[in-house]
Order: sequence, then C-alpha cells, then structure tokens
Amino acid sequence: ANNVGVLAMDIYFPPTCVQQEALEAHDGASKGKYTIGLGQDCLGFCTEVEDVISMSLTVVSSLLEKYNVDPKQIGRLEVGSETVIDKSKSIKTFLMQIFEKCGNTDIEGVDSTNACYGGTAALFNCVNWVESSSWDGRYGLVVCTDSAVYAEGPARPTGGAAAIAMLIGPDAPIAFESKFRGSHMSHAYDFYKPNLASEYPVIPFPFYIDSLFFVVDGKLSQTCYLMALDSCYKTFCAKYEKSTGKQFSLSDAAYFVFHSPYNKLVQKSFARLVFNDSVRKASSIDEATKEKLAPFSTLSGDESYQNRDLEKVSQQVAKPLFDAKVQPTTLIPKQVGNMYTASLYAAFASLLHNKNSELAGKRVILFSYGSGLTATMFSLQLHEGQKPFSLSNIATVMNVPSKLKSRHEFSPEKFIETMHLMEHRYGAKDFVTSKDCSLLAPGTYYLTEVDHMYRRFYAKK
Ligand code: ACO
Repeated sequence: ANNVGVLAMDIYFPPTCVQQEALEAHDGASKGKYTIGLGQDCLGFCTEVEDVISMSLTVVSSLLEKYNVDPKQIGRLEVGSETVIDKSKSIKTFLMQIFEKCGNTDIEGVDSTNACYGGTAALFNCVNWVESSSWDGRYGLVVCTDSAVYAEGPARPTGGAAAIAMLIGPDAPIAFESKFRGSHMSHAYDFYKPNLASEYPVIPFPFYIDSLFFVVDGKLSQTCYLMALDSCYKTFCAKYEKSTGKQFSLSDAAYFVFHSPYNKLVQKSFARLVFNDSVRKASSIDEATKEKLAPFSTLSGDESYQNRDLEKVSQQVAKPLFDAKVQPTTLIPKQVGNMYTASLYAAFASLLHNKNSELAGKRVILFSYGSGLTATMFSLQLHEGQKPFSLSNIATVMNVPSKLKSRHEFSPEKFIETMHLMEHRYGAKDFVTSKDCSLLAPGTYYLTEVDHMYRRFYAKK
C-alpha cells in the first residue's frame, strides 16, 4: 500500500465549557495568568452524562455516517486513552456495539495507554497494519479519547476533554513519511496517576513539594517535555539527513504541530526548536536571530532548560516563524484545553480547519508527548485527495467553528460543582444519571446508568 495515512477525521468535544477569564477571577489568580500566562481561552469538560466512552461512541458513529463508511469495512480499531474507567475491559470493546450491530466482529486492536501518547501509539499501530503483510484491505480506525481533570490548584485550568476519530488507509490525503521519525522514551515521574481511586494525576512541581525541589528540578513536567522534544528533533534530523543527504531545518516543513498541555508550552517548544536550529547552524536561522541567540550557545543542556533569558529571547526571535508555522494549529487546544491523547490531533484538526485550501504539497511535522515518558516526532505529507477523503471535505465535516460556537458557558461555580459530582461518580456503581441531554447535539451518546455490577449503559440522542 502506498501513501498510507489519514483518510478522514472527525472531532467531538463536550458542549459545556468555562471561560478561562472567569475562572481566573474566581480562583483569585492575577489577571492574565490563565489567558496570557498559560495561553488558554476556554476549558471544555464532561458533565455527568458524558465520559470517554460516550464521546468515542459519538465520534466514531459520526465519522462513519458523515463519510459514508460501511462499518463492515473496518478491519482494525485502536483506541488511545489515559482515562481509566476499567482496568481490564477496553474502551474499544464498548465501541464494538456499533460494529456488532452490522455483523462485523472481525476487528483487531485494543487500547493503548501511556499518558497523552496512547493516541499516537494507536495511530502507528493502524498505519503499520495497513503497511504490513497482515493487512486484509479494509480500513483502520483510530480513536483518541480523554477527559483531563485536575485537582483544585494551579493545574486545574489546564483541563479539557475531547474525542477524535481518524480513518486509516492507503492513498491518503494525509500520508505518513514513515522513514522520518524520531522517538525518545525514558523513565520519569513527571505526571502520573498512581491513586486508582482518583481521576486526578500527581504532578511533582515546586508548588506541591518544597523550595529545595524548586532549585533542583524546577517545573519537572515542562522540562521533561522540552528535553524529549530536543532529543526527538535531533534523532529526526539525523534520520532525515541520512535518508536525503541534506540537513533538515525548520524551513523544510510548512507547519509544526505540538501536543498541547497548555498553549504557553507550545510557544516555548517552538522557540526551543529555533534555538536548536541556531546551535546546529541550520539554514532557517537568519543573521539577526543567530546574533541574539549566540550568547546562549555555550550553555549545557541542563542550564539551557533553566535559563529564563534564553526562554524569553528565543520566544521573541521565534515569534514571526511561530505565527506562520504554529499559530494556525492552536485554535482548538486554546478553546477546549488539554485533551490528553486527543490534544495533538485536535491541534492538527485546527490546522486543517484554518488552512485546508493551502495544505496540498506541504509537509507537516507533529510532536507527540506522553508523560512517564514517551515521545515521537514524525512527518506527514499532505495531498488534496478526492472527496469524501479530501482535505477540504475533512474540514467541512469537522465543522469546528459551529461546534465551538454552539457551546454553553458554565459559571466557574457550576464548573466546580460539576467537578465535585464527577469525583463522587468516579469508580462508583449503582446510580442513574439525570439523563439531561438538553445541551447535547442530536446524535450524541450519553451515559444513563451504572448498575450494581458496574455495568455502564448509554443512549443516543
Ligand atoms: N499575566 C501574565 N502571565 C502570568 C501572570 C499574569 N497575571 N501570572 C503568571 N503568569 C505566567 C507565569 O510567568 C508563567 O509563565 P512563564 O512560564 O512563561 O514564566 C505562567 O503564567 C504560569 O504561571 P506559574 O506561576 O509559573 O505556574 P503555575 O504554578 O500556575 O502552574 C502549570 C502552571 C505548571 C502549567 C500548572 O498549570 C500545571 O502543572 N499544569 C499541568 C501541566 C501538565 O503537567 N500537563 C501534563 C503534561 S504532559 C501531558 O499532557 C500528560
């Protein structure tokens, strides 16, 4: 199979959200901390009638319907998620309800989990399957679904929720350049969920620990992310150069898409790539940039992650390139928040929405990061494709502006009330939900009941 990649995409996020500006004021944070400091506009969240299973049921049935794909044509279904509802039964098996109904139970694949990286693992599995000798000619389907919720405190505004579905096959408008991939995997405790009774992660950073920790580690999850980014970029460039005989630079891709825990980290990440190119003396760096970054070129790796001046100067000089190559990818992550496994693909969906008519013939680089930690940088080549599997049709089907516009804003008080209810509901049994689906769009699945045996029941609006 040639040009294997993404044929079709759809995205779902809850219709309920809270404005970061309102949350900021409510939390007593200084004005601009969440909107400028973190770079976030709005936060989407599930109410008691939605969860990662209902969102994935919604997005899968919507994709099949809107692209007119027969469920019998799916031969592999892979789910990426870090939201644990059951320690054994996969989310994939819930989705089988859609396929069993049509007489298709011959579908490989289960769930992949490692923080925000599970969606990428699922995507690679599907692409590799279509490229392999075990491919039976049918489509692969990837689902990334997560609800990111944090305990009260500084991390709470970085929550979010969404599900994304991607149809995988040959001759795709979004094709993998599988030769160009750089990964970095190592053991770190930067963000993890050891408390199985709680949905909230543990994030060791100075606020939670003590001043000594601050001196030694700073913001650990941010540093781990940036170190993994550097390492992936180095490996990616080396593989590119080995294969093409040419040095890779930021000029060789039209857009860069990052996993987005919050927008500020995406700004810092791209600045870090500019710094990398400057140290590598790559062709993307002009004289003025070279001069401004020169004083930092002798810093050791560790020093460079802690250096606030470097952070500031590199973000400054990267700004024009950031606006051209990254800004168009930031819409949904800024409007919905961190969607964990779906974040990177929601950023990519933002690019398709903003630039679909200009993307044919362009290369796009994606950086996937999951704490713990696992990271990969990989490359896509875009082609217009043919309807229904064309870039413009994907943008039309996803209909991002209308999904964003039709959301309902909750007050911070109501958001916090919802978080409290969800804390009680997590891992609970023997309850029925309000079944209030008045805010949900027609076609949305919702949770109606969890019975005395923890079995979950859903209905479709
Ligand atoms: N106006 C403008 N900017 C402000 C203001 C203000 N009034 N107040 C603060 N800021 C800036 C700060 O300068 C800082 O920006 P900088 O880093 O560029 O200097 C930023 O806002 C954040 O403020 P801090 O006080 O440094 O950090 P805080 O204690 O609020 O914590 C953090 C922020 C660390 C991002 C926290 O929200 C968090 O831990 N979130 C979870 C992130 C995470 O770990 N996600 C998972 C990672 S990978 C994955 O997705 C699994």
